[in-house]
Amino acid sequence: MTTPESIWSSRPADLYGRPGHDRLGTVLWGIRVLLGGLASVSRWEPSRVQPVRRTLTAVVTKRELVAPDVVALTLADADGGLLPSWTPGAHIDVQLPSGRRRQYSLCGPPGRRMDYRIAIRRIADGGGGSIEMHDVYRVGDTLLFEGPRNAFHLGAAERDVLFVIGGIGVTPILPMMRLAQQRGIKWRAIYSGRSHEYMPFLDEVVSLAPERVTVWADDEHGRFATVDDLLAGAGPATAVYVCGPTGMLDAVRAARDEHADAPLHYERFSPPPVVDGDPFELELARSNRVLSVPANRSALDVMLDHDPMSAYSCRQGFCGTCKVKVLAGQVDHRGRTAEGDDEMLVCVSRANGGRVVIDA
Ligand code: FES
Repeated sequence: MTTPESIWSSRPADLYGRPGHDRLGTVLWGIRVLLGGLASVSRWEPSRVQPVRRTLTAVVTKRELVAPDVVALTLADADGGLLPSWTPGAHIDVQLPSGRRRQYSLCGPPGRRMDYRIAIRRIADGGGGSIEMHDVYRVGDTLLFEGPRNAFHLGAAERDVLFVIGGIGVTPILPMMRLAQQRGIKWRAIYSGRSHEYMPFLDEVVSLAPERVTVWADDEHGRFATVDDLLAGAGPATAVYVCGPTGMLDAVRAARDEHADAPLHYERFSPPPVVDGDPFELELARSNRVLSVPANRSALDVMLDHDPMSAYSCRQGFCGTCKVKVLAGQVDHRGRTAEGDDEMLVCVSRANGGRVVIDA
């Protein structure tokens, strides 16, 4: 039988190797041993820590049409509590009753936690998520979501900012504009859309600072805004924040690429075009099908042709919703969220030649 070592006999040597001559060290050692003893007799165990609950519940408290094809929903905690904190540019991941998941930017006043506001444009020929959002949720209904998450921050050090907005792209930008105004940043905005009627929250945008906002309605000009119209007055050092249709994003990106290091921040509402894609075969092991994925389409797009309920959300490789298990084949991993060797984000990743077999 061994006798437990006492605090005093186990105290450390001093700097010169002499036991017991360093009083401060001895006291600290004693405190450490004492706390260790208390921890060992406590009932706390790491395994008792509950995992963070990721799915949250909110109640729809307001529903309004803010453009002929855009509905805005106000969401609040069912018990009147505060919702999780957020910063402008953040979005939530809504879990629809059908099992679809869709991301919507928070577009209420920056950081507001008594309620959130999201806005959804109805897309007739999309994946059905926006139609479900429009048709399903009424005041008093419960909505499940995850987040908020933010991949589109307004930089803390910005001094000269241009916001470029296309239609529903106003949702992440509107709180950013308010924040820029609060911070005293020199900012301007151009908001383009097919007509005033189809530009959600136009009054809110303009009333923030009418002298800083340019409104471009296609029906008044008889044409779309060109990239020169959108970037008028933006110098190489101007931080451009853009959100809108793919064509607008790509044009602005190409124009900003002409200046080395010109600051550009953007958020897409639709998937990016497939770049450097090779055709490949996708074998769905469970349904025993082989799909041909052409060079210019994603595996997810082809899967959706066959099964419109295939899971996805961001379609840009960062949310992880479309991740599937890979049973055979080499994957060219292109996602921005972690993909294991035996996993594949079918919205962006492709086969490294030949065929990939997935558990789907
Ligand atoms: S849908 Fe989000 S990572 Fe594929």
